[in-house]
Amino acid sequence: MSKATTLLTQFASDVLEGLQAEDKSLSSKYFYDAKGDNLFQQIMHLEEYYLTRKELEIFETQKHLILNALDDGEPFRIIELGAGDGLKTKVLLKYFLSEGVDFKYTPVDISGNVLEILEANLLKELPDLKIEAYEGDYFEALAEISDNPEKDVVFFLGSNVGNFSGPDAEAFLAKLQSYINPGDLLFMGVDLKKDPAIILSAYNDTKGITREFNLNLLDRINYELDGNIDRDQFQHYPYYNPQTGECRSYLISKREQEVIIAGEVIEFRPWEAIFMEISKKYDPKELSVLADSLGFEPITSFYDSQNWFSNVLWRNL
Ligand code: AVJ
Repeated sequence: MSKATTLLTQFASDVLEGLQAEDKSLSSKYFYDAKGDNLFQQIMHLEEYYLTRKELEIFETQKHLILNALDDGEPFRIIELGAGDGLKTKVLLKYFLSEGVDFKYTPVDISGNVLEILEANLLKELPDLKIEAYEGDYFEALAEISDNPEKDVVFFLGSNVGNFSGPDAEAFLAKLQSYINPGDLLFMGVDLKKDPAIILSAYNDTKGITREFNLNLLDRINYELDGNIDRDQFQHYPYYNPQTGECRSYLISKREQEVIIAGEVIEFRPWEAIFMEISKKYDPKELSVLADSLGFEPITSFYDSQNWFSNVLWRNL
């Protein structure tokens, strides 16, 4: 097939573009195929991966304060971007229902599979929950559902915002803001700067699950894009920069090699790196500056007992 007649999928063109660039990169949004979903589930249970436990602690110990801050007595809708397995959110949903709060829950996820499991799971435990799941891209979903008279509370939890660099996070949140109304709320889970050793070990676990999580994208490229990458020729290398708060993961080619992906030859020099993922950590000051520059009013922030993780509540002005 000639190039002109080949219709590449978004995945194929993103992968080829990323690997043909001067500084090679792959997008971490492609980590989450079925195997990747499963590996991320395992990561969330790792001793070193404190993020999930810390956010859960905040929800369990401060759910009454969170409700007070969200609820002004009017009905509202929770839109959760990247709902995943909903384990943490369930703590809040359950509590809100028990308090007789009038709200709807709209989880948004690109994985229909994930959403089906989530919906079945939530309804089993919370039969009174008003749930309307939406499968798709965040902004497609928001475009479709944002025409809504009720107050919206957008949940963006689990430090998902950390997958953007500082400027990209700002651009993403500005776009998100364009879909919501003045007075709508953003409830966001953010990982905080802390001892670099603790952060680094969260992305370099001793069981090697995070390494697997990164290498899995090479496997995915092999079977979805007809590739011949030998995963054993790549080394997982996470690196934390305490000044930018960016933890970046790389896969590094252990030798000079050539791989073929979707018919294209990609060359690697010895020790050439592929930038895989960014997991950015913030400090509270940086967050309030960000809110300010976007035109959100910070209402309140919640912290776990060690100040490792924060959930911020911002109102759109
Ligand atoms: C799902 C983006 C929050 O960056 O901490 C976990 C993904 N990557 N281990 C994170 C991830 C490696 C995770 N987020």
